[in-house]
Amino acid sequence: MPDHEILLDEATIRKRVADLGRQLSVDHPDGFVAVGVLKGSFVFLADLLRGVDLDVEVELIATMSYGDDTRSSGHVRLLMDLQRNIRDRHVLLVEDIVDTGRTLAYLLKLLEQRSPATLKTCTLLDKPSRREVDVAPDYVGFEVPDRFVVGYGLDHAGLYRNLPYIAALDEAVDA
Ligand code: PRP
Repeated sequence: MPDHEILLDEATIRKRVADLGRQLSVDHPDGFVAVGVLKGSFVFLADLLRGVDLDVEVELIATMSYGDDTRSSGHVRLLMDLQRNIRDRHVLLVEDIVDTGRTLAYLLKLLEQRSPATLKTCTLLDKPSRREVDVAPDYVGFEVPDRFVVGYGLDHAGLYRNLPYIAALDEAVDA
């Protein structure tokens, strides 16, 4: 693996993810449908939901905006849709990172059309300095600076999703 700087180590992530799970449990006494956004959210989703003490269902949806590039193409594509109807359900969209906000805005619009009872958003990482559309996640694990981050589900060209920590891979940024 190229030179990288660990920004968030395993213990820091574990503690914050557990905090988020507890908060979600308090805020959603009737349970919810967690919608994980693939691929990036799969590690966070798994850890987050194990800290939620409620009736939770899991749905998955897949989008792609980056391809193998380090910069967003600006165009979000839906690769895989939900299996179940979310009408009148409490829905929590779970993301690994909100960067330009295009993916989250796209998904909020898509899912709102399906008339959920409520629709909230939770992201492990938020990079507000890169925002291009006006979206604000309801639950944020960590705010991160404008550096290319990998690990704990996040990739560069398909790699590094398995790292147990979040690292900055600055030389990957094609400025
Ligand atoms: C990443 C990440 C988010 C999105 C955030 O997904 O998982 O879904 O980009 O970027 P944005 O706020 O600029 O839209 P990506 O499209 O790279 O797919 P992946 O999750 O399969 O890696």
